[in-house]
Amino acid sequence: HLDVDPAAYDVEHGEGGHMWREMQDQSAAAERVLRGRLDERFGTAHLGGLNMDARETRAIRRVKILGCGSAYYVGQMGASLIEELARIPADAEAASEFRYRDPVIEPDTLYVAVSQSGETIDTLLAVQEVRRKGGRVVGLVNVVGSAIAREVDGGIYLHAGPEVAVASTKALTTMFLAFSLLALQLGRVRDLSISDGKRIVAALQALPDQVEEVMSLSDSLVEVAEQLAAADSLFFVGRVRGFPVAREGAQKFKEITYRHAEAYQTSELKHGPLALISAAVPTVAIVPQDELTDRNVGALHEIAARGGPLVVVTHPGVDLGDVPCRRFDVPRSERELDPILLTLPLQLLAYHAASHLGLDVDKPRNLAKSVTVE
Ligand code: G6P
Repeated sequence: HLDVDPAAYDVEHGEGGHMWREMQDQSAAAERVLRGRLDERFGTAHLGGLNMDARETRAIRRVKILGCGSAYYVGQMGASLIEELARIPADAEAASEFRYRDPVIEPDTLYVAVSQSGETIDTLLAVQEVRRKGGRVVGLVNVVGSAIAREVDGGIYLHAGPEVAVASTKALTTMFLAFSLLALQLGRVRDLSISDGKRIVAALQALPDQVEEVMSLSDSLVEVAEQLAAADSLFFVGRVRGFPVAREGAQKFKEITYRHAEAYQTSELKHGPLALISAAVPTVAIVPQDELTDRNVGALHEIAARGGPLVVVTHPGVDLGDVPCRRFDVPRSERELDPILLTLPLQLLAYHAASHLGLDVDKPRNLAKSVTVE
């Protein structure tokens, strides 16, 4: 997997700084991470770089994902994908906390380290902790030959191309797709049917065009982003697959606009934060077409009843009733893959809000692109 060809992408196209260009490169980055790895005939993925045979793959009883910042949130999306497609218990943990609790390392657990730079010290030390205790770690890494890429037992290179802006966009999208490939391969050597495998392969093939379609919403998000920029404090809410989307959305918003943005499970609002909802505190809600749509819409009513301004990222055809809100529809994928398309408008909201405030979108204060010292 050392087949990165710098001529295969043009990082200098477009205008508007690094984050802007990197967001616009996401459809092409999605194609690059999928290229040569999908098997239409058998409805599976080929990930030779994992260095695991079918027997070893079948022996996995648990998956633990480790990353920091956006890589941690996409790790939570990845854990859902693995549980749904492979039916293996999976969860994500902040790599910065992992080694401090003297973690129990199990031989039948697959550890997955996620990192754009491959140099984040907390993630690297988490990898070393697993290996020191005899565990197997694979990496989802963008930078070829980086410290984490050298330390792991195998992995999936992301082929996102260089990412310069501190706020991760295209690397995150390729991380999600790499998790989709991993979940598909783990699923197909276990109980995922060939028809379900083919359903996911077809949906993955359609994603690059759908990413482009969501990015074309950009102009329509400018006005609402400017309204959000005027608030001192915001909520981002979602449930189940939508919750890591909300976490990532809040992270982007706070890191580049310096507004207080807090992510919450929509279901937990009534257990506390509803007390804070008012006309001065907008909520960005993730409401996919799924088994929880009606409950999510119920929560929107609760927010609206307290005068809370609402921005809803949803799917075409979802009936939001008479809830007053600004609504943005993203195309549907298969339900397991929906989170990535729901994430993209939140990048655009943060970008336009920060630009409106005249802030340095690419280099927010106090933050580094990669944190390489403890
Ligand atoms: C820093 C950046 C984040 C990034 C995180 C992990 O904190 O500000 O945007 O998500 O590091 O970086 P990595 O290179 O490991 O993905």
